[in-house]
Parts: sequence; C-alpha cells; structure tokens
Amino acid sequence: MTRTDGYLLDNGQAEAAERFDAFATLFDPTTFRHLETLGVGPGWRCWEVGAGGTSVVSWLAKKVGPTGRVLATDIDTSRVAPAGRPPVEVRVHDAGAEEPPGEGFDLVHARLVLVHVPDRERALQSMIKALRPGGRLLVEDADPALQPLLCPDEHGPEQQLANRLRHGFRELLSRRGADLSYGRRLPRLLREAGLRRVEADAYFPLTSPACAALESATVRQIREQLVAAGVATHDDIDRHLANVASGDMDLATAPMISAWGRKG
Ligand SMILES: C[S@@+](CC[C@H](N)C(=O)[O-])C[C@H]1O[C@@H](n2cnc3c(N)ncnc32)[C@H](O)[C@@H]1O
Repeated sequence: MTRTDGYLLDNGQAEAAERFDAFATLFDPTTFRHLETLGVGPGWRCWEVGAGGTSVVSWLAKKVGPTGRVLATDIDTSRVAPAGRPPVEVRVHDAGAEEPPGEGFDLVHARLVLVHVPDRERALQSMIKALRPGGRLLVEDADPALQPLLCPDEHGPEQQLANRLRHGFRELLSRRGADLSYGRRLPRLLREAGLRRVEADAYFPLTSPACAALESATVRQIREQLVAAGVATHDDIDRHLANVASGDMDLATAPMISAWGRKG
C-alpha cells in the first residue's frame, strides 16, 4: 500500500533504487557520524521517518541489536520492505497527516523527507511527540535555495543546460508544496519546539560520481513532468543525460543540513 499524492518522485519507479543508492553513497557517512555522536546503541528504540531505501535502517538495526527496535515508515515502503525483519518493522505512514506510529522512542531520524511534506510543521511536532523525555531527534534536510545550481562552475553550454533543468525541477518540487529553504530553519525550529542542546551543520558534495548517478536517475524519473511543464524538450533532456554520462561535468547537490537536539 502506498500514499504518494503530492510527492513528485515515486518510489515504485525503477530509478528510485538508483536514487536511494546515490543518497546512501553521498550522505550515509554524514548521517552515521551524527547518529554515532548521539549515542545510538544496543537496546535503542528508533523511528526512521520517510525511510526510502534500506541503508540507514540496516545500519540502525545492527547498532540496536536484537533487544532494540527500528520502526521504518514511509508513504511508500516498496524499497525499504526487504529490511523488514526483527529488529526492523516496516509500516506505511504519512508523517504529515497521521498521529505518530508509537511513543517512547530513544531516537527519531528523518533525512531528506520533511522538505517534501506539505504539512512539515505537523510532521516535526509528531516526531518530537514520539520521543521519550531525553530522547534524541536528528533531522537532515536539503536547502536547495542556499545553493540552487547543479553546476556551480557554469562555464559552458552543458553547465547552462544542467542549471536550467535543475531550476525547472525545483519549480516542480515547489508546486508540489516542497519548501526549498527548509534546511536552514531547522536549528530554530528545533529550539522553538523545546529541544535542548540544539546544534547543526551542513554537508555539500561539489562533485562525485554519485552526484552524476543521482542526477541521471532523477531526470529520467521526472522526464515526462519536465516536458509537460515546458521546462525542457525531450532533446534537451537527451543532451543533458549524455553530458552527465560523459563524466566531464562537475555536478553538485544541494547542501544537506543536519540539526539535532534532545527532548526535555
Ligand atoms: C528523497 S527520499 C529520502 C529517502 C531516505 N530518507 C534517504 O535519505 O535516503 C524522500 C522519502 O520520503 C518519503 N516521503 C515523502 N513524503 C512523505 C510523508 N508525508 N510521510 C512519510 N514519508 C514521506 C518518500 O516516499 C521517500 O521515500
């Protein structure tokens, strides 16, 4: 069962697996460093919100061991389902529209999710509500408006085309209710929600094969929407995909801002 109204990138499409692999390569080291610092370990009860693929959930499962619990939720659980054996439980859940799926969690984590949730305020409240007193929250979200370019070094027509398509992609995300300057707000939002010891940092790959893999999968996945919205022609998209595949482009991502704190 899935509830994907509003979310532009359908987890059921083949390219979603490529995107989740690229997120893992690009962002898992940062995420795992933060989770280690927060102290996740044996017996912890964790809620992974908008889990997407399996890499974070599987890492958490190893850390919490057989006495812990990892609840992995998503509006579309098709890609995380293979990780669904104890201590992992997989459940369909809309973070912005439903009550939290449990309480008393030691850790609640969401990565690259809230930016896409139209009622992200409610989702954040629900994540905090689900924590036990003293529990840790880690929210990691993109801030595409801080660094909107796919090619920050826009030195030729290939890079200009890349940035034009990226601009169009962001338009489509905004029209679906995404907040493209959400990441920068996280520290304040966590403090205003009553969390203590709030800190934040950012990670921003400037070029890497995983950035190219992510770009290729994303553009192939939303090709029809880009064309229908008049952002690009099929020719533009074919040219861009060939440029990306050439390996000669320096492709960046939006900065991912990680913010964390503890409840009570
Ligand atoms: C960009 S992906 C990130 C996946 C994963 N967290 C990661 O970092 O690799 C966004 C994920 O959020 C999920 N999602 C979108 N809206 C959601 C909502 N309202 N509630 C729960 N999950 C949602 C999507 O289905 C998708 O799996």
